Amino acid sequence: MKISLDNRKAGAVEAQALVSYVFEGDDIVSGRVDEIDQATGGLLRRLAKSGEMTGKSLEMTLVHTPAGMAAERLLLVGAGKREKFGSAELRKIAGAALRTLKSKGVKQVAFLVRENDASMESAEAVAEGLLLADFEGDKYKTGKKDKGPVEWVALLGWDANGGAEKAIERGRIIAESQNFTRELANEPSNTMTPTILADRAAEMAREEGLACEILDENRIKELRMGALLSVAQGSVEPPRVIAITYTPANAAPGGPVLGLVGKAVTFDTGGISIKPAADMDKMKFDMCGGAAMIGVMRALARLKPAIKVIAVVPSTENMPGGRAQKPGDVQIAMSGKSIEVLNTDAEGRLILADGVTYARKLGCTHLVDAATLTGAIVVALAGVNTGVFGTNQAFTDKLLASAKNAGEKMWPMPMDDEYREMVKGTIADIQNISNSKGGGAITGAMFIREFVDEVPWVHMDIAGTAWYDDAKAWMPKGATGVAVRTLIDLAMNFGTGN
Ligand code: BES
Ligand code: ZN
Ligand code: ZN
Repeated sequence: MKISLDNRKAGAVEAQALVSYVFEGDDIVSGRVDEIDQATGGLLRRLAKSGEMTGKSLEMTLVHTPAGMAAERLLLVGAGKREKFGSAELRKIAGAALRTLKSKGVKQVAFLVRENDASMESAEAVAEGLLLADFEGDKYKTGKKDKGPVEWVALLGWDANGGAEKAIERGRIIAESQNFTRELANEPSNTMTPTILADRAAEMAREEGLACEILDENRIKELRMGALLSVAQGSVEPPRVIAITYTPANAAPGGPVLGLVGKAVTFDTGGISIKPAADMDKMKFDMCGGAAMIGVMRALARLKPAIKVIAVVPSTENMPGGRAQKPGDVQIAMSGKSIEVLNTDAEGRLILADGVTYARKLGCTHLVDAATLTGAIVVALAGVNTGVFGTNQAFTDKLLASAKNAGEKMWPMPMDDEYREMVKGTIADIQNISNSKGGGAITGAMFIREFVDEVPWVHMDIAGTAWYDDAKAWMPKGATGVAVRTLIDLAMNFGTGN
């Protein structure tokens, strides 16, 4: 999809559809949109007066062959209340408009941004919204596919000489990287084993000029990653650890190194503590945290932040094979800590334990992990917010600020010392589940904390946000690529005040 700036007046653009948006309120036809109203002889005011166009969030008003305009269609998207509007809403509006028009076979689109909204940030957000919306998860459908990709979108309302071109390019890098994550994450478990994931990551790293190290089973054994190996032993598929490094050209020695650790369980049956059949197919998405980190590295290779970044992705299946670990087994993690595995379905924290230990060994001074870790976070926050846990307030605030910049909803969760007691072991140092009722997402985070020590660290539980069970107006169902944009922002703004 080509995205370019266009200086023409809205009425003069010969697109198959011209898109803009209207706010809820008394005077919904105002500003730039008023130009369209005038060109069409008061059409928009009539639509508003009839009550058909109200400006409610994501309401779609489509008009064919609007008189006085060169475009074949006019699409007005509801933008909700002006006070609540920002680039996150604009990203969704652009995406929802694209999906609406695409479903009707429209391939050439103009998008008019309103007065006050023509910033660099909004150009980036619109480009992202369009490219994320154009992604389809239908590669295995052999019949008639969707109506095909949109050919071009002309962006109106920005000053073509104001640097918006660069913002669009940035938006493209970010969205295509997020789509790369979604592509990896949507694959079923038979086409996305730990070996295949490692191959795909290595291929991406080679193409982007990033350093990449793949640890195979022998190397994982040599490094004594006992927690990861305990999960992998129930499967015939061997585990992998993927380590991808971005080093900036002028890296100062002794500077910070950001470690991104992602859970990549390519299928989670629960192991011997097996899951019920209903919805078990969704556990192909249990590698979304790892896929996010790989997508982030792709973007950073192109955007070139000033900080060194290392992604560490431990990957395995969690299967109930004959050699599978059993509830009550004791395992020794790479750090030397002993773990009672009371529930083999709490496997994400086991592989992350060795993942963060390895990231620290590689010299990471700051750690962020992303994991589809607990059903409990879905109980707490549903599919709306990602749960954020942190040991260092300043670093946690920085990540939350990046989430805001990126338009990804995240919410801070508590990590009081009282929760720590709940993961103390009976015959080993720690246990992988709590014996107390409740707080399942927090005790999951507390377990990982045992392997982080004093390193500033943030844990993102993306179990509720990593995929959509149903399509949204702005995105198809399937993997969302959550956390990718937030982490890119974190790396790009690491040394700044955000
Ligand atoms: N992968 C699951 C968590 C999950 C559940 C992700 C639902 C997405 C949607 C994880 O490995 C798991 O099974 N966690 C257990 C932990 C429990 C045994 C303490 C859970 O949440 O039930
Ligand atoms: Zn599990
Ligand atoms: Zn899992």
